[in-house]
This record gives sequence, structure tokens and C-alpha cells, in this order.
Amino acid sequence: MSTQSSSTPPVRRVTTRTVVDMKARGEKIAVLTAYDYTMARLVDAAGVDIILVGDSASNVMAGHETTLPITLDQMIYHAQCVVRGVRRAMVIVDMPFGTYQGNSREALASAIRIMKETGAHGVKLEGGEVILDAVKRIVDAGIPVMGHLGLTPQSIYKFGTYQVRAREEKEAEQLRRDAGLLQEAGCFALVLEKIPAQLAREVTDMLTIPTIGIGAGPHCDGQVLVLHDMLGLNREFRPRFVRRYLELDELIQDAVRRYVSDVKTGQFPSQAESY
Ligand code: KIV
Repeated sequence: MSTQSSSTPPVRRVTTRTVVDMKARGEKIAVLTAYDYTMARLVDAAGVDIILVGDSASNVMAGHETTLPITLDQMIYHAQCVVRGVRRAMVIVDMPFGTYQGNSREALASAIRIMKETGAHGVKLEGGEVILDAVKRIVDAGIPVMGHLGLTPQSIYKFGTYQVRAREEKEAEQLRRDAGLLQEAGCFALVLEKIPAQLAREVTDMLTIPTIGIGAGPHCDGQVLVLHDMLGLNREFRPRFVRRYLELDELIQDAVRRYVSDVKTGQFPSQAESY
């Protein structure tokens, strides 16, 4: 069944199956975050495979210091905006802090709200063994789940630092175990954030589901960045793992300065821009 009108050419949507097949073929998976309709449209049209409505919205959209404050209602609002702009990419929504850690029933209820109210295609949860019941329950309900291990920003107050995780063998061993358990529980993909490249390679080789790295080196099956970071919208934030493809903060400020000057000097609007 198709809901596309006859005027729009059909587009083959990226699914859980697509990304697992991409890994099997050795084709890399490109993932970016988006939080609103306008950016989601651009990112989708440029060929990104998965759009993550990350709880990094708490930082880059709302200006909070961490991802903890963002609410389920706010994530649902961002996801609704993104879904309206997307035709091809798979849209995955971060389950915000406090909406899945309590128990698996609560987790399922939160995931169902996201799916029903946004039209997104899956959810992402942070953590391993301790959230396994929640992952299983959500997957059993037919909802695709992306896992997230390594530096999990919702646990930042436990870690006390944004430094690389799992450098020590004990934590690395736990991460390998968690990765296997998440795959067994039915996750279709796994984000690995800020861990040594060698460990990410081992986990990637060990799993049949794709790994999506951020600060986890070149051996993952795909890469994800926060859109605002790769566009250069935050001058102060320059970690090693972010490649900036634009210095958009400068371009925007320059454009706004010229606009302010044009208004103040009476050069805007001109006759041609008037009715
Ligand atoms: O919230 C987010 O943007 C994320 C990615 C950085 C993986 O979780």
C-alpha cells in the first residue's frame, strides 16, 4: 500500500533490513541528527541513510548543558517536525532520560507514544545489560531499537567526564558483553560513542548488526555526527572526532551583520523589494 501521490516519484525508504544488508555488503551507513523540518528536508535530500532525532536537541536546540532535561513531549515535538521533512531516510528517535530506565512497561509505553505520535521508524536507548528487559519488550512490540554504548551522555553525572570510555580492559569487556546482549535482544543497529578505535573494530567484527560510530574510529559500519557540529554552528565545541564541513556560525553572523547594516542605513528594502 502506498500513500504517495501520483505526482511524487516513489522513493525506496531505508529500513532496518536495508542497513543490516548494507553492513553485509560492506557499504557504509551515513547518519546525522536533525531536530526540525527544514534541516531534516535538506539532510534527507542529500542522501543521509538514517536521521537521528537525538536528545542532543537538549543541548543544541534548547541550550541545556546536558541531555538530561529534555522531556518526552519535547522529543515527540522535534520528531514530528523531522518526519514531515523526510522521504527516504529512516528516522530514529532518542528516548529521553527517565522514560525507560524505571521498568520495561514504562519503557514500552514511552516507545509506543513516540511511534504513534510522530510517525518515526524506531527508537534509540542508551545502555547495555541493565536496560535489556526494556529493549526486549520494545522489540517484542514490533518497534525497531538502536542501542548506544560507550560514552552515553545520559550517564554523564555518573562518568563525571566526557573523556573516552572503555580504555580499561574491565570496561571494554563489559562493552563487548553488552554489545552481544543488545544484538541478541533484537537491536537492529548499535551506536558506539567515544571508545578506542580498536575496540570498535572488534565489536563491529563480532556483530551481524551494523555499528554506527561517533568518536569510535574508522572501522564502524557507519558514522553519526550532530548536525550542528559538522556544520560548524558552535565555535566553542571542537572535539577531535568532529569534522567541520562548514563554518556556518561565521556565514550566519556575517549575513546578519549585513542585514542589520542595510536596515540601519535604509538600504533595505529597496524600491524593487517594495509593493
Ligand atoms: O543525541 C545524539 O545526538 C546522539 C548521537 C550523538 C549519537 O545520541
